[in-house]
Amino acid sequence: MKFAPKSGPAQTLRSGCAVVAVHEPRSLSAAASQIDQVSAGHLSRLLRRGDASGKPGKAVMLHGVPGIDTERVLLVGCGPKRSITESNYRKALTAMAEALEGCGARDATCHLTELPVNDRDSAWNLRTAVECVSAARYRFDQLKSDPKQTAPRLTTLWLAIKSRRGSAAAERAIATGQAIATGVSLARDLGNLPGNVCTPSHLANTARALKKGRRNVKVTVLEQADMEKLGMGSLLSVARGSREPPKLITIEYRGASKDKAPHVLVGKGITFDSGGISIKPSPAMDEMKYDMCGAASVLGALSACIELRLPLNIVGIVPSCENLPDGAANKPGDIVTSLSGQTIEILNTDAEGRLILCDALTYAERYAPQAVIDIATLTGACVIALGGQAAGLLGNHDGLVGQLLSAGTASGDRAWQLPLWEEYQDQLKSNFADMANIGGREAGTITAACFLARFTKKLRWAHLDIAGVAWRGGHHKGATGRPVPLLVQYLLDRAGV
Ligand code: BES
Ligand code: MN
Ligand code: ZN
Repeated sequence: MKFAPKSGPAQTLRSGCAVVAVHEPRSLSAAASQIDQVSAGHLSRLLRRGDASGKPGKAVMLHGVPGIDTERVLLVGCGPKRSITESNYRKALTAMAEALEGCGARDATCHLTELPVNDRDSAWNLRTAVECVSAARYRFDQLKSDPKQTAPRLTTLWLAIKSRRGSAAAERAIATGQAIATGVSLARDLGNLPGNVCTPSHLANTARALKKGRRNVKVTVLEQADMEKLGMGSLLSVARGSREPPKLITIEYRGASKDKAPHVLVGKGITFDSGGISIKPSPAMDEMKYDMCGAASVLGALSACIELRLPLNIVGIVPSCENLPDGAANKPGDIVTSLSGQTIEILNTDAEGRLILCDALTYAERYAPQAVIDIATLTGACVIALGGQAAGLLGNHDGLVGQLLSAGTASGDRAWQLPLWEEYQDQLKSNFADMANIGGREAGTITAACFLARFTKKLRWAHLDIAGVAWRGGHHKGATGRPVPLLVQYLLDRAGV
């Protein structure tokens, strides 16, 4: 879909539908008032009769409003006028996208972007509108034999801005939103693809596609033999449980001069997690196809940064394999040697994410990075602690953690910090190796991060546990594309744009 800025009074802009806000309790936004005036009070009468309220996310479609050329007017509830929250703004945009989907308009003008959202500027409004509308229109039907033939009718959404003078800045904000939306959609597609399609090789091919026609993107894929030579004994021990060949994928994007240290993103790419010999119970096991959502978010974020030509150097690293119980699989009690030289006693083969990440994090050292962020669907405990609202965030550098927290707030893709105190390290004690791969029932998200911390001592590092936010289950089952918005915001901030 095309998004473009447009300025001018609401009553004169022509399109298939004018989208305007109504507030609680029963008041009109500026754009709605303009239409109300030329229609001799049509909208305020509706409000008075109770046919529209300002309830956030409640939309009412009107046809044949007198006095204007526009065929339809969509009233969207945005909550109290005095304080327009980000959450109400997003709800309104999603409701708008759904209402427009179901109507015959080919284009529409959205006036919600003119609203004064608390503490946010026009660029943020525009960008967020593009992201919300794109997310609401997302469909995954590539594997249905008969994908819905009915292409959506709406092809253009005009986003209202106050004056024409702002249109260059508006175009930039829209482009940012579009790049993020494309990255989110890529991450959602990869997540939703089943394990028999989205294999480590598929992730490698997707990474290679990011490089198409671009000289400043380099993709390298290490095969099993390459990893054996390097000594990635921990990652390879997980891969041995499956017949699918493992891959270690790196994507290097060069947007700044060579001497600038890169930002490194490391994403867990378990394309299916059965638990291995410590096999998982069968209910909802299908959802373990989402265990590569960290990897997907790395690819999605890189796709956005490449499209935006950010003036930064960025490296994405994706360790990828399956966790299955083959004859050669890890057994509880096995001891493996990681790339760092540290030995690990595998007391539970289902704690496999940390086993592949630790070698990838050691591998990251060779890029002499400014900072390393790993993203992983790492622990069920994080789902219990934070639910679907926030990703768990832990790290060894307070500045980096702070930057990620604020990127999460600005993008509406939030994270919440958990402690990484030294005292928790005791839980990883092993009688036979340098450490165990599990830390007992208590503080599972923290001890998983403690494990990773033993491999990132030389790095400025943070870890995002996205087990609760990467996908939704039940009725709305599907990948969310999180935390692509957070990661891109973090990198936009570093680039100073
Ligand atoms: N991929 C899972 C984590 C997970 C589980 C994410 C459920 C989302 C929903 C991870 O590999 C895992 O199995 N973790 C174990 C660790 C435990 C054995 C210490 C877990 O959380 O149960
Ligand atoms: Mn597991
Ligand atoms: Zn896993």
